[in-house]
Amino acid sequence: MRFPILTPQEAAELFHDGDNVGLSGFTAPGAPKVIPGAIAEKAEKLHAEGKPFKINIFSGASTSDKCDGMLARANAIGKRTPYQNLPDLRKRINSHDTHYFDQHLSELAQQFRYGFYGDLDIAIIEVSEIHDDGTCVVGMGVGNVPTYAKFAKKIVLELNEKLHHALYGLHDIYMPKDPPYRSEIPVFHANDRIGEPVLRIDPEKIVGVVMSDSYDGVKAFTTPDETTNKIGANVCDFLIGEMRRGGIPSTFLPIQSGVGNVANAVLYGLADAQEIPPFAMYTEVIQDAVIDLMKKGRCKFGSTSSLTVSNEVEADVIDNIDFFKEKVVIRPVEISNNPEVIRRLGVIAMNTALEADIFGNINSTHVTGTRMMNGIGGSGDFARNAYISIFSCPSITKEGKISNIVPMVSHLDHSEHSVDILVTDQGIADLRGKDPIQRAEEIIKNCAHPMYKDLLTDYLRLGGNNGQTPHTLKAALSFHTEFLESGDMRNVDYSKY
Ligand code: COA
Repeated sequence: MRFPILTPQEAAELFHDGDNVGLSGFTAPGAPKVIPGAIAEKAEKLHAEGKPFKINIFSGASTSDKCDGMLARANAIGKRTPYQNLPDLRKRINSHDTHYFDQHLSELAQQFRYGFYGDLDIAIIEVSEIHDDGTCVVGMGVGNVPTYAKFAKKIVLELNEKLHHALYGLHDIYMPKDPPYRSEIPVFHANDRIGEPVLRIDPEKIVGVVMSDSYDGVKAFTTPDETTNKIGANVCDFLIGEMRRGGIPSTFLPIQSGVGNVANAVLYGLADAQEIPPFAMYTEVIQDAVIDLMKKGRCKFGSTSSLTVSNEVEADVIDNIDFFKEKVVIRPVEISNNPEVIRRLGVIAMNTALEADIFGNINSTHVTGTRMMNGIGGSGDFARNAYISIFSCPSITKEGKISNIVPMVSHLDHSEHSVDILVTDQGIADLRGKDPIQRAEEIIKNCAHPMYKDLLTDYLRLGGNNGQTPHTLKAALSFHTEFLESGDMRNVDYSKY
């Protein structure tokens, strides 16, 4: 190999305070595994000497503890975008140590190309294969790597030996032209390939290669419980009913499924819903449940930006890579989440809410309106452009002290205009064609937990004839303020208003 082999510590010396750094990958897969830890050590050393050191991290989505986690603990992240999901980084964000801007994932690459965030000083790119002319095969996640590879002034590679040079043929690397020169993105079916299986990097930019040897380390999801199983079954009931009615063609439409435990349970529900024919996915992450669905013949193809699977499943995918190359394509996130393609394919979007309000608005990101949980991720890319947009969440959380259905969301990520169907463990609210009061009645009747139905109905009555959406502004956040004061939303008393 023509490129110098570096230790992680030697590579860390390439990074300077204030650098804009691009990372390969999407969620843990494809994200660097050894260099960020060495940068974190360097940061701790410099901080101990009283010297400043923070880098700005631009990724595809979340990364892993070996990346965001270690850097956050070292307080080495200045700016961060577009998504994260780790407790240590969450703490830094909520205490303002890290300036996080939460973004629709599909937009970042183009914004970077137009210089919204300045130059990209350096990129770290995980590869499973590298050739002397700079041609690479990347890891299990793509994210924004084509843009970062093209625009970074310097690139350091992590060659992951665990991936056994096995991944050639899994990726479809494509970068659209930017406005005003863009034409259509020619994906007409979930399995269309429009780019190349390799990433071409200018070899002059590659300053070195660091060896790594580990799977992506995705945490296995919690086994679905009674509540998440009910949500999954309710989503499947809706899909089957809609197909019987002719609202979804009998050949079915591609499915997008969000992240988290609820999304995973919904996917397991689809395994048993035999009336739904084998379907394709046009989504941003493929989780363990989808690999299972592929093996069972229930999912016939998956377009994604990452194989976000646990180590055990990742080993299985690599052992059976020829089977999966027929069934999976891993794309840049600006294509996997592209609004034009999502609208064209008629994607059925299934995303998760932290809370929904009775009028159909969704909060996916902020706990009690102030504390950032993860970020909007790709949920807006899909929900806004979907054929049918479904949101789901449990009806209650923390043994009932929190109702996930509230009078008004404490933070707004997806407005009523991007929400067709709301599902909880209690049932399904079909919001299509309904005005705000009708939506509220449907949500309270079908989705709210019985212990909160009366309170929510009282709130709706309190608004009386106060306009089309009858909020009572001084009581609109009463569930949240009550929770912050007494620790239990059930203590709300509307006779006070
Ligand atoms: N108020 C306060 N806390 C709440 C809450 C609410 N309304 N709803 C849930 N929580 C808490 C849960 O109790 C749990 O806390 P714990 O970790 O202490 O147990 C935590 O939030 C996560 O809840 P869980 O039910 O396990 O959710 P999940 O793993 O299914 O994740 C989201 C849910 C919304 C956080 C997650 O889906 C997300 O980040 N979504 C936004 C991004 C997105 O949709 N991306 C996909 C696009 S393809």
